[in-house]
Amino acid sequence: MRGRSLLLIKPDAVERNLTGQIILRFESARFKVLAMKMVRLTYEEARRFYAVHEGRPFLEELCSFMSSGPIVAMVLESDGDTVSKVRSLIGSTDPSKAAPGTIRHDFALSVTKNSVHASDSEESAKTEIAFFFS
Ligand code: RTP
Ligand code: MG
Repeated sequence: MRGRSLLLIKPDAVERNLTGQIILRFESARFKVLAMKMVRLTYEEARRFYAVHEGRPFLEELCSFMSSGPIVAMVLESDGDTVSKVRSLIGSTDPSKAAPGTIRHDFALSVTKNSVHASDSEESAKTEIAFFFS
């Protein structure tokens, strides 16, 4: 069975010209890019995307950052548990705790500017893909 995840390349990575290198990691690991676009979210759109984090202390900083410049949104597909496979390639939220060879270890600047977002369940993948792709 094939599964899907949303992946976002965050403004810090787009700005540093890391888009191609990040896509290459997924293509090399045999993920299929099913859809992709570059967009710039407004602060309000970022708040809607991160509605699950409503009330968390980092939400304002996160949404300001996510609306500070263009991002690249894509749908990744692979065999098996795509959500877990994508998350193991991206690494821990805090890049100082991420394993060597993960995207966040190699590219991220801080917990906020951590280069990528990935869905955390099959259910959130469905909602998040629908947010960006009609
Ligand atoms: P993501 O959703 O972006 O893939 O990241 P994640 O699951 O690893 O982390 P999550 O807990 O969902 O948090 C979403 C994003 O919020 C920022 N964050 N900042 N300052 C903080 O303590 C803090 N905690 C989280 C990060 O950018 C994280 O990716
Ligand atoms: Mg998350």
